[in-house]
Amino acid sequence: MNISIKTPEEQQLMRVAGRLTADVLDMIEPHVQAGISTDELDRICHEYITGVQEAIPAPLDYNGFPKSICTSVNHVVCHGIPGERRLRRGDIVNIDITVIKDGFHGDSSRMFAVGTPPVQGTRVMQVAFAAMWEGIRVVRPGARLGDIGHAVQSWVESHDCSVVREYCGHGIGRIFHEDPQVLHYGEPGTGVELREGMTFTIEPMVNAGARQVRLLPDGWTVVTKDHSLSAQWEHTVLVTAHGCEVLTLGAADRK
Ligand code: MF3
Ligand code: CO
Ligand code: CO
Repeated sequence: MNISIKTPEEQQLMRVAGRLTADVLDMIEPHVQAGISTDELDRICHEYITGVQEAIPAPLDYNGFPKSICTSVNHVVCHGIPGERRLRRGDIVNIDITVIKDGFHGDSSRMFAVGTPPVQGTRVMQVAFAAMWEGIRVVRPGARLGDIGHAVQSWVESHDCSVVREYCGHGIGRIFHEDPQVLHYGEPGTGVELREGMTFTIEPMVNAGARQVRLLPDGWTVVTKDHSLSAQWEHTVLVTAHGCEVLTLGAADRK
């Protein structure tokens, strides 16, 4: 394991990358409407990131990923590939944005509802959102990765949903996916101890049904085995002296 500790200068570059990532999600929100295709969402984000932000969309060509963003609709858990599929009223969709600016990555995703989703859809979105924040809440020097996983898992399972185990959060910096792995389940007091200057993501994938997933033949799209709805939210965080700083807050949540 090789966990990088960011210097104050590197932390500043991570703040910039994080803010740009959040800006893309803020920008795309009004476009997430019935009738738009996920390809169109991809194109709008790509043009904004490269043209306005003069940044790089990290997913494009990452291990062969063909697009600039991930769009995961309904029972798609994560890594959905934008395509011709148009959003319909009642869909829930995750948009996952990763931006590289001046060599550093910001990574964040949010759920969007198109019209009024089924009750289970609204619920799984809310449970995943709260679970992410339960994880973020425990981040401070001296806490352990298992504390985060436990906080997320307890929240999800006490709300009758399940946590996907095959995918996890990750260290992030000059590299998209660095050490450590940040599991969304676990035991308190176990795992790597957090230190000031670490940066990583917390990004629980939460299913309304069973936790098992299946990878589609395209090699990317992950779906729930039982076709239940799935939701995910993601923030990039920095461990500070006494807690943490969330680097990917949207404009509405920044002071
Ligand atoms: N953004 C995803 C994450 O949160 C990773 C997407 S990899 C891709 O880690 F290749 F699918 F884009
Ligand atoms: Co991530
Ligand atoms: Co992401």
